[in-house]
Amino acid sequence: MSRAVLEPYRIKMVEPIRLTSRNEREALLQEAHYNMFLLPAEAVTVDLLTDSGTNSLSAEQWAALMIADESYAGSKSFARFEETVRDVFGYTYVFPTHQGRGAERLLFSVMCKAGDLVPNNTHFDTTRANLTDFGVECADLLCAEGMDLQLRHPFKGNMDVEALRTLLREKRERVPMVLLTVTNNSGGSQPVAMANIRAVSAACREFGVPLYFDACRFAENAYYIQQRENGYSGKSIEEIVREMFSYGDGLILSGKKDALSNIGGLLCTNNGALVPRLRERLVLTEGFPTYGGMAGRDLEVMRVGLREGMDANYLAHRLGMTEYLGARLREQGIPIAEPAGGSSVFLDARGFLPHLKLEQLPASALAAEIYLEGGVRTVEIGSAKLSSGETMSLVRLCLPRRVYSQTQLDYVADVIGDVWKRREEIGGLEYEFKPEILPAFSAYYRPLSAVTEQELATAD
Ligand code: F0G
Repeated sequence: MSRAVLEPYRIKMVEPIRLTSRNEREALLQEAHYNMFLLPAEAVTVDLLTDSGTNSLSAEQWAALMIADESYAGSKSFARFEETVRDVFGYTYVFPTHQGRGAERLLFSVMCKAGDLVPNNTHFDTTRANLTDFGVECADLLCAEGMDLQLRHPFKGNMDVEALRTLLREKRERVPMVLLTVTNNSGGSQPVAMANIRAVSAACREFGVPLYFDACRFAENAYYIQQRENGYSGKSIEEIVREMFSYGDGLILSGKKDALSNIGGLLCTNNGALVPRLRERLVLTEGFPTYGGMAGRDLEVMRVGLREGMDANYLAHRLGMTEYLGARLREQGIPIAEPAGGSSVFLDARGFLPHLKLEQLPASALAAEIYLEGGVRTVEIGSAKLSSGETMSLVRLCLPRRVYSQTQLDYVADVIGDVWKRREEIGGLEYEFKPEILPAFSAYYRPLSAVTEQELATAD
């Protein structure tokens, strides 16, 4: 047997978890309208809702917090932050924002106008919603491998470069930039290969279009390149990160992911011509350019986190844990999107509950059952078309960084295994209330009535 995947840290502070009974969870689910986002966190045993802002800080981050400079303008904390960001990513101009969404809006406000078209491998929900809010059309150009749930391929986050070239050939004048999301969160947390980044960059250069990265999980992507791509096993994560970003013109980043912070975001660019407008928009919407949307303390935490997030031992453990959880589910016969992704493992809700139709919201129904079974909070992820022509429906198990132990993941695998055993009894849900923008965050659901179930069953 191979050795256990060792946590390269030890626990210094603990936070108790309150355990709940099944009856309690049943009542809580009803009160939360079966939406995982509306549950009180206190009633969650293992919280795999997101890896965003849920990270544990290190001793060094807590220490950095104490030396923060809270000056409104020109703080030492910003100078240190800017120096680190430039060194890690290699871009010249650095703008802090309160989180990823702040950076998205800032970039789109200076680059895009109504009627434009922005391609991405897969737009994350908030990116898509923000672009749509600016009147911009979004194109997802994920490679064919990325649209086959069962296929094991090392870089299922790659962009379809031929599709990008075709789009640029036909619609160049509508495209103010190309975005590339590393890792590709909505497409199963799958990485993008260096060869693909290079090819996307070459296409962008050929057509004179800027390339920006949505770089939240930059370190996990770099680790996969080191492990899986020819020619990179001898390179450090830091070197790989520098190379990845050398092919682009800038990035937007949520510090709440690989930068191991609880809040914060970032926009970088090499385009000096954008700087006056970026400063203007930043002052108007986030704050003075040397703090953006962040306290000096948050700048310090993110500065240290950016480096710690690239530690090879930490990354080996983190990605080893998603692989471990994936293996524990697979061995029980539970259908997951293959392979396990960077920060997450995705359950294939349609494979798990084949008796439910898409209108019966299998992913939301499965997330609710997993919570009911053992207090494990997961999240339903928006649907997209697969290469088979079917629409996928996924439940994401997303691991906060440096938070849960292997025993807690074993518990998660056991709970989902118990739901799997009684899968045939699980009924569907329907919307009680569906907001227009980002519905997953605040929708109300309710169990389908027996009559509606009957109608759907006989519909075809
Ligand atoms: N881009 C990607 C790829 C993301 O995963 C997220 C957030 C954002 C942008 C927006 O960043 O939350 O700081 O405003 N993803 C979280 C998630 C919410 O759960 O995957 P933010």
